[in-house]
Amino acid sequence: MSATTPSPLRVAIIGAGQVADKVHASYYASRSDVNMVAVMDSRLEQAQAFAARHAIPTAWQDTREMLENTQPDIVSVCSPNRFHFEHTLLALEAGCHVMCEKPPAMTPQQADEMRRLARKAGKVLAYDFHHRFALDTQLLRQEVMNGTFGEIYFTSAQALRRCGVPGWGVFTNKSLQGGGPLIDIGIHMLDAAMYVLGFPAVKRVTAHSYQKLGNHKNYGQFGEWDPARYTVEDALFGTVEFCNGGLLRLDTSFALNIREQSVMNISFCGEKAGATLFPAHIYNDVRGELQTLLQREAADDQRHFRSMEAFVRHVQGEPVMIADAEQGWVIQQLVAAMYESAEKGKSIELC
Ligand SMILES: NC(=O)c1ccc[n+]([C@@H]2O[C@H](COP(=O)([O-])OP(=O)(O)OC[C@H]3O[C@@H](n4cnc5c(N)ncnc54)[C@H](O)[C@@H]3O)[C@@H](O)[C@H]2O)c1
Repeated sequence: MSATTPSPLRVAIIGAGQVADKVHASYYASRSDVNMVAVMDSRLEQAQAFAARHAIPTAWQDTREMLENTQPDIVSVCSPNRFHFEHTLLALEAGCHVMCEKPPAMTPQQADEMRRLARKAGKVLAYDFHHRFALDTQLLRQEVMNGTFGEIYFTSAQALRRCGVPGWGVFTNKSLQGGGPLIDIGIHMLDAAMYVLGFPAVKRVTAHSYQKLGNHKNYGQFGEWDPARYTVEDALFGTVEFCNGGLLRLDTSFALNIREQSVMNISFCGEKAGATLFPAHIYNDVRGELQTLLQREAADDQRHFRSMEAFVRHVQGEPVMIADAEQGWVIQQLVAAMYESAEKGKSIELC
């Protein structure tokens, strides 16, 4: 622990919904060196019920009041996407370290301002891109650095659901979310792919998006939604061209007529070997036969826990990797470029 890090760390949570409940509060409750002191939600009764459930002493409806009165060291931002910018800025200005849910923000300009303020304030700003914390992802990143794959020139990332439009929250509302599956689930595989590849410089982005099912159907694996108020894409297919000549394909959907209920995985194809991510499996070809070089039996199911743990340990001064504000900004630029490309029907040059 760094000499200047308070202990226990005082934590406040903004947005008392399901990810705050299942991930953030559950993780903080597991640590004896962290105290949850406050929770805020735009619906006060939601904050109060959350506080009661997690034995948090105070519940608030106003972020500024909460920050002034409870003086937290750490803030978890778990509000809908549209409010990440405002809540992160308020928390950083109040001198807090921030764990902000993905996506970083609604636009690259906002993510840029967030990263600049974090740097100026000397505070940690991490994003909850938890798939990069899976042992599978860590293994592949290590093998990329070891040169196991040679040059990786094709990567295929998929974050697909057959009929998995979220039936809760505001995930189908473009003005509150910024988009559909790309900004909600595709962004996770985009971050994991970029992380394994070492965030290569991007030359050009091209994408096509569709709204064919979400505005007609109304029920799926995550419950019911209102097709009349469905304002986001239900599928998007994008290509990122890197300055090093490599290609990354990203296919993502809330609803698409595929065979599987859900696919969240990435394939990396290099000169010497290839890999799939979940579970990590590295292979090559010997005279037409698949040869396994390295394999994990099952995908790591503790990745969300590891993401939270990395953040707290980083705040405590340990040199552990986080999904930082610089990389969050890059990911936000890619998401924006894909949406812009799909809207304008042309490729977007990024360098
Ligand atoms: N890392 C992940 O895998 C993961 C998983 C789920 C959600 N998320 C992200 O977490 C965020 C929340 O998602 P969720 O599934 O918990 O949604 P949710 O709808 O369950 O919760 C959102 C909460 O925020 C509250 N809220 C709405 N407007 C607010 C405002 N202006 N100020 C404060 N609170 C406000 C709502 O009342 C609700 O309680 C989203 O940004 C989402 O992308 C990330």
